[in-house]
Amino acid sequence: CIAHRYTFTVKEVPYNKLCSTKKILTVNGQFPGPVLKVYKGDTIYVNVRNRASENITMHWHGVEQPRNPWSDGPEYITQCPIRPGSDFMYEVIFSIEDATVWWHAHSSWTRATVHGLIFIYPRPGTFLPFPKPDHEIPLVLGEWWKEDVREVVEQFIRTGADPNVSDALTINGHPGFLYPCSNSDTFELTVEKGKTYRIRMVNAAMNLIFFFSIAKHSLTVVAADGHYTKPLNATYITISPGQTLDVLLHADQNPKRTYYMAARAYHSSPVIRFNNSTTIGILRYISSSNAKTSSYPSLPNYNDTSAAFGFFTNIKSLYSGQVRVKISRRIISTVSLNLLACPNNSCQGPNGLRLAASMNNISFVTPNHVDILKAYYLHIKGVYGTRFPAFPPLVFNFTADDQPLILQTSRLATEVKMIKYGEAVETVFQGTSLGGGGIDHPMHLHGFSFYIVGFGFGNYNVTKDPSSNYNLKDPPYRNTATVPRNGWIAIRFIANNPGVWFMHCHFDRHLTWGMNVVFIVENGRGINQQMLPPPPDLPPCY
Ligand code: C2O
Ligand code: CU
Repeated sequence: CIAHRYTFTVKEVPYNKLCSTKKILTVNGQFPGPVLKVYKGDTIYVNVRNRASENITMHWHGVEQPRNPWSDGPEYITQCPIRPGSDFMYEVIFSIEDATVWWHAHSSWTRATVHGLIFIYPRPGTFLPFPKPDHEIPLVLGEWWKEDVREVVEQFIRTGADPNVSDALTINGHPGFLYPCSNSDTFELTVEKGKTYRIRMVNAAMNLIFFFSIAKHSLTVVAADGHYTKPLNATYITISPGQTLDVLLHADQNPKRTYYMAARAYHSSPVIRFNNSTTIGILRYISSSNAKTSSYPSLPNYNDTSAAFGFFTNIKSLYSGQVRVKISRRIISTVSLNLLACPNNSCQGPNGLRLAASMNNISFVTPNHVDILKAYYLHIKGVYGTRFPAFPPLVFNFTADDQPLILQTSRLATEVKMIKYGEAVETVFQGTSLGGGGIDHPMHLHGFSFYIVGFGFGNYNVTKDPSSNYNLKDPPYRNTATVPRNGWIAIRFIANNPGVWFMHCHFDRHLTWGMNVVFIVENGRGINQQMLPPPPDLPPCY
């Protein structure tokens, strides 16, 4: 059933996993949180009631929210937090999205357990570009820490080191039987031979890209990040944090067997520690309740970059919109890991320094009294500067091994990028080998979907425009794009959504370290080209 009003009560509830119990933040006591179901074009109202002991905000990831940054959610970017005991009514406006997106908390690392899916349906009587599936299956991939996530955050900020890796990967909150005490904490899906299942999935993990596959069953990808794709048959998928996929599962195998599904990390850095365990779920056929034989899926190796990016680049949009426009603004930005000084070299990063991350060598400092949207709207001075990128595009060998020390150290600042209404923007993200050789970065932009028109390993050639090699025919249309380790991607969008929009790496440790920037898209002249007025119950700032 489809509703237009929801109540999200954020509260702490005890959960028992991996042989121990801890309290986690939930919405309505559920983990993963409730699924929202809407029709394309709907507006819904979600009353978020904070009944927990820490601040919270809510973000509707992949929802464009036309002219309505007020309900977008990132803490101190578009709002001050909802304090314990307070409420805020989010107005979520669905306009261009077609398939599956998701929602999650956007304050510190609260999204670790505060997240859920959003199912979008075509308006009754409109076209679905693939055969109607028999059933829909929500599938949330995640990470679980045995310790309180607040302690994980407190510790890595204090020590300047990498955060503790998680203790388990999860499917719909279940670690699966390979982990201790998890035999009965394993996700099971029962299917009927001959039927088709639409798996609506998200990678809600904090710090890991995943490979996922189901034994013996081929999958057909039909949408990515809420937009239809050309149908893509795949034996495995790659999914970065923040990304969603709609995948058809055809129950066409021997119903006398059971089949395992599995997810584990894709991880490109040879030096950074990660959780290399595997989460397993079980696929049963109705008739196979006591089947004796099981099949494990085969997944690419954890460091198989060509498997990971082979999947990403095989995704093609079903429709191609405004890709062939004349670009009016090209923003070239490095995305880097960095090192910062630490008093008495007492931190636990390399050489006693503190780990950081940056875009264009600026580690973004999130304001902590007033949000950027309010500062912009009310002309409050001194909250942010407008000098992103601070330098003309850096021309150097981004991916060489011996980078000058000055590049290893980033500058702490709150700099935004001003964009005029209607500009055709191309942004190039260049991954660098700073900070221990670099890693992939799933870059997410709020307020827009964008075309991923270009991609490459090595250095983007700033002097020779590489756009002749771009895909301007059917590039993927997404909201989260993965920059390969020591490589680059180029994205394009039309800045037709006025507001204050966060852009950041969706690895939360990189977000915390400053791999972020804010785009402020100014109002246009037309009445429908201007930001909506602020809602009356915006949480106050102190
Ligand atoms: Cu999925 Cu800024 O978030
Ligand atoms: Cu990153």
